[in-house]
Amino acid sequence: MKIDLHATLRAHNTFGFDVSAQYLVHLTQAEELPVFVQKALDQALPWQVFGGGSNLVLAADLKGYTGLMQIMGRRLMREDADYFYVEAMAGENWHDFVLWSLEQGYPGLENLALIPGTVGASPIQNIGAYGLEVAQVFDSLEAFDVQNNCFVRLSNADCAFAYRHSLFKEDPQRYIVTSVCFKLPKKWQANLTYAELEKAFANKSDLSAKDIFNKVCEIRSAKLPDPKVLGNSGSFFHNPVVTHEKYQELKKRFPNLIAYPYAEGWKLAAGWLIDQCGFKGYRVGHLGVYEKQALVLVNHGGGTGSELLALAKEIQDKVLASFGVSLSIEPVVFK
Ligand code: EPU
Repeated sequence: MKIDLHATLRAHNTFGFDVSAQYLVHLTQAEELPVFVQKALDQALPWQVFGGGSNLVLAADLKGYTGLMQIMGRRLMREDADYFYVEAMAGENWHDFVLWSLEQGYPGLENLALIPGTVGASPIQNIGAYGLEVAQVFDSLEAFDVQNNCFVRLSNADCAFAYRHSLFKEDPQRYIVTSVCFKLPKKWQANLTYAELEKAFANKSDLSAKDIFNKVCEIRSAKLPDPKVLGNSGSFFHNPVVTHEKYQELKKRFPNLIAYPYAEGWKLAAGWLIDQCGFKGYRVGHLGVYEKQALVLVNHGGGTGSELLALAKEIQDKVLASFGVSLSIEPVVFK
């Protein structure tokens, strides 16, 4: 178990914020996890585990033990008449895994191409894009249960998935995910529920998963900045869910409002709300709002996490004043 002292986390968060970790631990095997947690507990220090750092706001130096999830491996775990059960270890890069699964002949993850981050992080916030959420293809995962000091397998129902949410967000100190298994139907069907995909492929015969993969990569690259080029964490706020009454009131005042029926109410496009407040392309110092997508905040270089949180607050205040809607921050914040 390699441990670096007072190491910078700059390369380990996609905003590129230059904060440090007191102890930075490279976790390459599941057996290291109990030791890692025990070290922190013995010294009464905090611990946290990061994947690709693509859903993080680091606004302060981190005390205690920060683990980098680097457990690697992927395989066809098993198959039955209807499904392939494909497993990847938590440290695998998500996009590489999606591509690999297609190449191996296990389609089904193509709508989630190009999402930054690791496989282990995918169930934490139940990643979703272009008509598909991880919860829809998730079979089970293996995790170290910190509370009971043992490894456990959790089913789809155990994980209590919801929109950008899961059991793991409720109690981040309970489990460390070590591998995730996906259940992919052998009888593949194209998922064209996202309007832009439907428009692109409605009349295409012989549509393949690779066609969808390529199209998703194209749409994503056109709308979202590459974190290697411009620091960001994807969508910075959840799309807020409002009651039917609130939706009707807003729709009357703003006929162009973008909203989708969701559960008992309506999900609003936060990007549209922020855009209407004039923030697209807005810049304060080193931080700003992406010029092509108002839901994405960016670090133009040299910015800090606290500056980013100040910008987020400015946006939240303006959206609340204009629409009476509260926006909640999507990434995990350390401050
Ligand atoms: N819109 C604007 N102005 C903007 C941004 C968006 O008017 O500046 C409008 C768009 O024209 C569209 C609507 O808002 O009509 C929704 O935009 P889009 O389809 O781009 O999706 P989104 O709601 O902004 C969500 C996810 C993304 C995911 C896309 C595609 C959340 C918080 N975000 O974004 O996920 O890729 O849908 O499925 O649910 C992420 O979570 O990091 C992420 C990128």
